[in-house]
Amino acid sequence: MGELVRFGVAVDEELLEKFDKLTVARGYANRSEALRDLMRDALVQQQWQANEEVVGVVTLLYDHHARSLEAQLTDIQHKYHEQILSTMHIHLDHDNCLEIIAVRGTGRQIEELATKLIGMKGVRHGKLTATSTGRGLR
Ligand code: NI
Repeated sequence: MGELVRFGVAVDEELLEKFDKLTVARGYANRSEALRDLMRDALVQQQWQANEEVVGVVTLLYDHHARSLEAQLTDIQHKYHEQILSTMHIHLDHDNCLEIIAVRGTGRQIEELATKLIGMKGVRHGKLTATSTGRGLR
């Protein structure tokens, strides 16, 4: 971690008031912590756009009874085995399965993989959460 640096930012009073309210609502200890999180979030977005190595989590909610869907989802994951860190399968109830897949690769690889999985017929809801390997975010 580098040294802590203080800097001044000129900002519209109303905007700052709104930001401070948001900071409290989101449970931040102070304005600085909220601002640091926004900066890191922007840096993570940039890592994805620049096709750097990133980390993500794909969640899939799908129909347990959809014919051959489970096998097809597994086939896709085998094709991307180098990007799959771990998969957790939860039998939510009689009809619904939840799969949580942790992935690591270039931004493009991960987006391609997530799009294939989420787009499968029988997947009722799918989401890619984009995060980082942690590099460059201190
Ligand atoms: Ni299941």
